[in-house]
Amino acid sequence: MPDPIRFYYRGAVQEVRDVLPSQTILQHLREDLHCTGTKEGCAEGDCGACTVVIGSLEDGKLELKAVNSCIQFTPTLDGKALFTVEDLQQQDGSLHPVQQALVECHGSQCGFCTPGFAMSLWGMYLKQEGRQPSRCQIDDALSGNLCRCTGYRPIIDAARRMVELPPASFDRAALAERLKVLQRAHGFTYEAKGGRFHAPRTLDELVRLRAEHPAALLLAGSTDVGLWVTKQMRELNEIIYLGQVEALKLVNEADGMLEIGAGVTLNDAYAAVCRHYPDELGEMWQRFASLPIRNAGTLGGNVANGSPIGDSMPWLIALGAQVVLRGAAGERVLALEDFYLGYQQKDLRADEFVQALRIPLPRAGMQFRTYKLAKRFDQDISAVCAAFAVTLDGHTVTEARIAFGGMAATPRRAASAEAALVGQPWTEDAMRAAMRAMAQDYAPLSDMRASSNYRMQAAQNLLRRFWLETRVDNPLPATAVNAFAAGTEGESR
Ligand SMILES: Cc1cc2nc3c(=O)[nH]c(=O)nc-3n(C[C@H](O)[C@H](O)[C@H](O)COP(=O)(O)OP(=O)(O)OC[C@H]3O[C@@H](n4cnc5c(N)ncnc54)[C@H](O)[C@@H]3O)c2cc1C
Ligand code: FES
Ligand code: FES
Repeated sequence: MPDPIRFYYRGAVQEVRDVLPSQTILQHLREDLHCTGTKEGCAEGDCGACTVVIGSLEDGKLELKAVNSCIQFTPTLDGKALFTVEDLQQQDGSLHPVQQALVECHGSQCGFCTPGFAMSLWGMYLKQEGRQPSRCQIDDALSGNLCRCTGYRPIIDAARRMVELPPASFDRAALAERLKVLQRAHGFTYEAKGGRFHAPRTLDELVRLRAEHPAALLLAGSTDVGLWVTKQMRELNEIIYLGQVEALKLVNEADGMLEIGAGVTLNDAYAAVCRHYPDELGEMWQRFASLPIRNAGTLGGNVANGSPIGDSMPWLIALGAQVVLRGAAGERVLALEDFYLGYQQKDLRADEFVQALRIPLPRAGMQFRTYKLAKRFDQDISAVCAAFAVTLDGHTVTEARIAFGGMAATPRRAASAEAALVGQPWTEDAMRAAMRAMAQDYAPLSDMRASSNYRMQAAQNLLRRFWLETRVDNPLPATAVNAFAAGTEGESR
């Protein structure tokens, strides 16, 4: 008999044998376990009604993170612990401080969003360990939860109130011990209802599986793939899950490069890169999707998906990042801009996967910024995403790397605008010549996010903003939300 999926839920180990590999955790909770506290709003990671907390051992250390259960597949729970709103009630039957605070502050009206808010707040409660959260931390913890009734102020009050109430204990050590028992020494293959889900643990196992199943879908954080199932109704019969491969979760620094494994979550990847570029990337970190999406999604998935409106590619390309590919023949390293061949086309062979990103560390004379234009601050896809890196020798531009998302079928450099800058003094005249030259670089589309004209004008004006912030004589202060990158201590909005 094939191995069951094993995970810890409601004080016991659950063994699951007979669900589709692409069944979502939300479906499993509601339809199989009949735990209906967790709600479905959008089924696409946007509203947060389905928020749960997942506990896992990462490099032996217990991590507890809020994620959207509507786009995570049940077999990804293997070896982990699942917590839902049903877990919050205390042993004596009383409400958890998170719930009590929501009651006291009138943080719930129709109540549909409330289990999701409660779980996002619980994720923050565990992290804060009794410390009062800042407004910036509250906003970030709740960035993936929508409420149509309360107007948010009472929920934000509850986030402050919950740490003033008598604390609720949570035995992390006991959970870590329980999870240790569930860890597998080798990769795991789950099979049911005509589908297969492989979860290798080592790079070698992954290389072998990729070569054996070139048509299988690679699954990382599931924040793109989940929607293919819930919105496009696609059937995924063979999945190779990257989330158990420890070697893909490494972050290293060597030879002036920061290497981030493809399996590092977006939140951890942005934290690592913001240690070097806090002012330049702090706002992008905060504005990339929401905390639950960043807790699940990976930098490797963002790059491999290669959406023309993805947020990481412009700044990675502007910095001169490389993508490390791995296949049966070994490693291949490409400049990231060369990875994208056309809309949804990449230079990725059938037996290959993205292993890591190599990102150059700050260098003398380089001015760098990235800007995201979207209709909302949090949880919105860019209409235009820009990144500029200009290296100056005194006043002269010696290198210019400009990359955009939302302006072409792939994330792409602005070759004409760059050429207009190199060798010129970093002056308003040179910047304006580059703004004009940019019209040769792109012919953007009109769609529901923005018109072609808007995109072109905004892209040109972002170059002007970059110049204003980095001009040699009298730069404007950078507008990035530095408090977030500096440890989410400030009042940011
Ligand atoms: C609500 C919501 C908000 C979002 N907001 C943003 C946003 O603000 N900015 C933005 O850029 N994106 C956003 N996204 C998109 C998504 O979160 C990102 O693209 C994310 O980085 C995808 O990573 P993942 O690990 O979840 O990838 P998955 O969904 O697991 O995979 C995505 C694709 O990449 C492939 N893949 C994954 N890893 C590898 C690998 N190592 N090698 C080869 N192929 C691989 C998969 O086969 C699949 O084709 C949002 C998504 C949602 C649902
Ligand atoms: S149901 Fe809306 S985020 Fe999951
Ligand atoms: S209380 Fe009604 S949606 Fe939030």
